[in-house]
This record gives sequence, C-alpha cells and structure tokens, in this order.
Amino acid sequence: MTRSIQKVSTTTSNYAPSLLLITNVYKMTSQEKLFTIEMSFPHLLDHKPGQFVEVSVLGVGEAPISISSSPSRSNGSFEICVRCVGTVTHALHALDPGDLVGVRGPFGRGFPVERFRGKDMLFAPGGLGLAPLRSLINEVLDDRNNFGRVIILYGARNPSELLFKEELAEWEERNDVELHVTVDEAEQGWKGNVGVITTLFPRVKVHARNTIVVTCGPPVMYRFVLMEMLGKGIHEGNIWLSLERRMKCGVGKCGHCQMNHIYTCQDGPVFSYAEIKSLGEAL
Ligand SMILES: Cc1cc2nc3c(=O)[nH]c(=O)nc-3n(C[C@H](O)[C@H](O)[C@H](O)COP(=O)(O)OP(=O)(O)OC[C@H]3O[C@@H](n4cnc5c(N)ncnc54)[C@H](O)[C@@H]3O)c2cc1C
Ligand code: FES
Repeated sequence: MTRSIQKVSTTTSNYAPSLLLITNVYKMTSQEKLFTIEMSFPHLLDHKPGQFVEVSVLGVGEAPISISSSPSRSNGSFEICVRCVGTVTHALHALDPGDLVGVRGPFGRGFPVERFRGKDMLFAPGGLGLAPLRSLINEVLDDRNNFGRVIILYGARNPSELLFKEELAEWEERNDVELHVTVDEAEQGWKGNVGVITTLFPRVKVHARNTIVVTCGPPVMYRFVLMEMLGKGIHEGNIWLSLERRMKCGVGKCGHCQMNHIYTCQDGPVFSYAEIKSLGEAL
C-alpha cells in the first residue's frame, strides 16, 4: 500500500476491507512487530479476546491475525503482533506509521470471559501464542477482583524471542500474578528456566476443580499442555485452546479452515478441549 493514499475508509461488510491507519509500529524481536491501528469505528470497538481480523496489503494479499490488545484497553485503537513469515506479513513489516492497512472483521468466536469469572486462570502460551492470549490476560487483569489466581506459564525458543518483554516485567512485579518463563535454549545472561513449557508445570499447584486453562502455540506444544492438564484432573470443558489453521475468507464460506465438521474461522478459533477432542490426530 502506498503512502500517498491518505483516505481512511470503512465498511461494515464482512467481505470488503476497511482501510485503517497505522498509528505506531514497534519492533519487538527480529521477527515480530507490534502494529497499533486506529479503530475509531463502532464495528471494531467491541471485539472479544481471542477474535482475529483479516489484514490485507493492497496488491499483495491478506492474512488472519489475532487481535492482541484487550477490549478493556481499546482507547480508539487495537494492536496486532505480526511475525514476518511470508508474502503478506513481509509486506506488513514494510509499512510505517501513517500507512493504511486493510482490515476485515473481527471474526471468530472469542473466549467466553463471562464463564471464567470467579475461577483461577492458568495461561500457557508458547512463542507467538502469547499474542492472542495477551488480549485475554489483560482483560482479566483489568477486572482482577472477579478472578481467582492468575498463573502465566510462558515458553519461547530463546530469550531474544520473548514477546511483550515490558509487560512480562510488569506481570513479574505484580503480587497477584504468578509468572513463570522458560526458554528452550539459554543465551548469555539468561538466569531463568531452561526447558520446554511443561518443565514449568511442577512449579504450580492448581485446584483442578476451579481452574480454567488457556493455551495457544504450536501443536507439538499444546498437545503436551493438554496431556499435563488432563493429568492434573482439569475438566475437558475447562481447557481452552486457540487454534491456527490455514484460512482464506474468515467467514465460513471457502472451507479452507475446515477440520471434519468444524470451521475454525467461525466455530473457533477458540475451543474448549471437550468440543474438539473428537478430532483426535487432526488436532
Ligand atoms: C486465527 C489465526 C490467528 C493468527 N494470528 C496471528 C498473529 O497474531 N500473528 C501472526 O504473525 N500470525 C498469525 N497467524 C498466522 C498467519 O495468518 C499466517 O502465518 C499467514 O500464513 C501469514 O501470511 P503470509 O502471506 O505472510 O505467509 P504465507 O506466504 O502464507 O506463508 C506462511 C508460511 O507458510 C508456508 N506456506 C505458504 N503456503 C503454504 C502451503 N500451501 N502449504 C504449506 N506451507 C505453506 C510458508 O513457507 C511460510 O512458512 C494467525 C493465523 C490464524 C488462522
Ligand atoms: S476460512 Fe473460509 S471457511 Fe474458514
């Protein structure tokens, strides 16, 4: 998208993107940037944590990206954290504040936050999985009195790939958040835990009947999280996952995201394990 386009345009159509203004770009790691996008339009104001938008760069294409900011902190804009992996994300990384980006959505079913109230919350994001879960974590922290314990177990490949480092430091400081971070490979100066995310589980004792688990990350990671949590006696309906599958339309029309009878874009991307355990190997 060229910088000469100045006109922000919006639509409430599910199929036509609104052109929205990028107001800030923050380089988080060598691969990820955090984009702040203005959203002074009602249809984007009330997203739920866990929902995603289809983000497009004109002439290049579009990709589904989770909304990473929480509705409780919307402030006239929303944030997306984008890893540069291919055509669209590469083009997005070339954009600057003042550029326009196409946005459709928000789409999908978000987390049922109302049902989580009164429960202990255990978040287990792996790598880029923190991007969607950050929306829910901050939503919970902004309504802190209505939840029990808040436990965050976060794993990344190495210390330089940790996302949202400033927020991790803030959560670490809080005495009402139990944060444990691990990396697969240490780097010089790293004093924290080394090992995959499941090496953090023995550190926390959970009340199985009163805990909601929320996880997101690569399949190899969330499968281990699932096994551990089921092993601790957490009910299948209290374990929630945000799944990433290849998507195109985002609105249940093209079938790209279909897994058996489920359309990930519409029925998800957020599911309880009870809802999708029948997918077995496909999960
Ligand atoms: C609900 C949802 C939420 C998401 N949230 C985020 C987010 O918050 N941040 C984020 O960075 N990403 C997110 N993603 C992932 C993102 O949408 C994908 O990485 C997307 O493919 C990027 O588009 P691209 O054009 O840049 O990359 P692509 O060009 O599509 O390439 C992406 C990767 O897939 C490989 N690839 C491309 N085509 C194929 C193919 N046909 N078969 C196999 N491999 C192929 C490429 O080599 C590359 O490694 C999300 C995805 C979903 C479904
Ligand atoms: S992405 Fe088209 S049906 Fe889900």
